[in-house]
Amino acid sequence: MAIVSIEKATRHYQDGDQVVEALRGLDLSIEPGEFTAIMGPSGSGKTTLLNLIGGMDTPTSGRVTVSGKEVSSMSKTERSDLRRDHVGFIFQSYNLIPVLTAQENTEFVLLLQGKSEAERNQRAREILKAVGLEGMEGRRPAELSGGQQQRVAVARAIATKPTIVLADEPTANLDSETKAELIGLMRRMNEEEGVTFLFSTHDHEIIDVARRVVTLRDGQVSSDEHR
Ligand SMILES: Nc1ncnc2c1ncn2[C@@H]1O[C@H](COP(=O)(O)OP(=O)(O)OP(=O)(O)O)[C@@H](O)[C@H]1O
Ligand SMILES: [Mg+2]
Repeated sequence: MAIVSIEKATRHYQDGDQVVEALRGLDLSIEPGEFTAIMGPSGSGKTTLLNLIGGMDTPTSGRVTVSGKEVSSMSKTERSDLRRDHVGFIFQSYNLIPVLTAQENTEFVLLLQGKSEAERNQRAREILKAVGLEGMEGRRPAELSGGQQQRVAVARAIATKPTIVLADEPTANLDSETKAELIGLMRRMNEEEGVTFLFSTHDHEIIDVARRVVTLRDGQVSSDEHR
């Protein structure tokens, strides 16, 4: 069963007295275990699409379903529960909490979910080890390199075993070494932990390793290539 299903989604923004049609009847479904890149020119609707799937926004018309739940008909609270329980995010600037250690940053969403201390602790340790940060659990972001902070951000995104991990241009602003490390880590988490990834990108190094490449043009899917 598809974990994300989008049917005839439109998203119109009001810009003064102009209407911008960011999505124009977009159809897309994502199956568990995918590693999918969304590409397309600037303004083609990539961020708008990710915002709908992540429950940050709702479509003007059409249906967006994540994990069998329809986002379009949810209240704000229900959408924030959807994000907490089903969606992991990797942000360009990592968004780690500076006063918290790697362990605490990784446990944060588990805490919001009301998981017990023992369970949080064990899951965060396990996932930090999986991303290669064993022994650094007690360090704060300022005591970690950029690449290590990024690994904490990946650990945090996948700690809750989300249905899908979303990333909007995750490799923008990264030097080539850090970028290669992030791409390798995401691929490994996809293969070894079965994490589903969906990211927007202009970056050919990610597009090269993607298993599916969806191209948007003017708010619609213009090509969909499975590899
Ligand atoms: N809040 C907003 N108000 C008005 N127009 C918006 C808003 N957000 C996005 N748009 C418009 O919607 C269209 C799609 O924007 P979107 O951010 O989804 O594109 P994108 O594919 O992510 O582009 P980029 O590659 O530059 O990040 C663009 O024409 C953009 O100007
Ligand atoms: Mg964008």
